Amino acid sequence: MLAIVATLLLTAAGVTSSPLERRATDGLNARAVAAGKLYFGSATDNGELSDSAYVAGLSNWADFGQLTPGNALKWDSIEPSRDSFSYANGDTIVDLAAKNGQKLRCHTLVWHNQLPSWLTSGGFDNATLITILKNHITNEVTHYKGKCLHWDVVNEAFEEDGTWRSSVFYNTIGPSFVPIAFAAAAAADPDVKLYYNDYNIENAGGKSTSTQNLVKLVKQYGVKIDGVGLQSHFIVGSTPSQSAQQSNMQAFIDLGVEVAVTELDIRTDTPATSSAVNQQAKDYASTIAACKAVAKCVGVTIWDYTDKYSWIPSVFSGQGSALPWDENLKKKDSIYNAILSAWGPAPTG
Ligand SMILES: *[C@@H]1O[C@H](CO)[C@@H](O)[C@H](O)[C@H]1NC(C)=O
Repeated sequence: MLAIVATLLLTAAGVTSSPLERRATDGLNARAVAAGKLYFGSATDNGELSDSAYVAGLSNWADFGQLTPGNALKWDSIEPSRDSFSYANGDTIVDLAAKNGQKLRCHTLVWHNQLPSWLTSGGFDNATLITILKNHITNEVTHYKGKCLHWDVVNEAFEEDGTWRSSVFYNTIGPSFVPIAFAAAAAADPDVKLYYNDYNIENAGGKSTSTQNLVKLVKQYGVKIDGVGLQSHFIVGSTPSQSAQQSNMQAFIDLGVEVAVTELDIRTDTPATSSAVNQQAKDYASTIAACKAVAKCVGVTIWDYTDKYSWIPSVFSGQGSALPWDENLKKKDSIYNAILSAWGPAPTG
């Protein structure tokens, strides 16, 4: 009763939520939204969704306002044999996001990896491969029409030195596979934002310049491209500075696209030392602060939220501990709080 009276008095005084309510709605995503962003989100994958404690954390909108399916929407999962489409795994994650009121980054239509062998060893000529590419994109984008905020249309088209990456698409079609892919996606869903996504383009340099040229190329073809995804798979202590990240984001935005941080994680040698964790908190904060400072950086996604399901240890031997929650789903307070304060004040009301 006293609590009710106190709440009424606070409301009358213009305070619209009690401290308790405020705590319940505060979190990584709530802060991002309060800072004017569309979301703070996490990647996820089908195998993890049988872990109910994991799903409860993932489904907490205050922390995660957006999901990215890590593998479910890739070519080998969606079209394992030619012209035969399999949407069950993708639908599971799309439905979870809808149930949780979370936005979706749909990932990814055209990539050199995780391709079915019928496609990579089919020996298709240019015209046939273009038909296959358009058919795949049209089918998948149509299936998820209205569900995705973003589509990563093309992923990782460049080598580290900024030259075109060798792939079945580049080798057969040439650079025009990129505008052809974007045009097919735009035709299938005119409302979804169409992204190019890559890593090691978070800093000025050859690969970032090549990606800027890719944006120009798509536009030269008269085709829509809306955004560039900066994957941001970083290493503790060697992430680009906040100002370097901001000016790199701005270089893309100056070409008429938006940007998003799409796969953030910051790996270290394991077990992580306390000094590494301190540095990691600073590194997370500088990427968040860069996105906050750049109006057309629309949001940040971490590449899953817990070390329990991070891809790092399986790919980088002896490394890991890259995410804000540990292997026991326990929040790492220093990193979590660094992200919170980098976004700025908690939402009010
Ligand atoms: C394949 O065809 C497309 C569309 O006509 C064209 O833009 C591209 O240059 C062709 N690629 C090659 C290697 O001939």
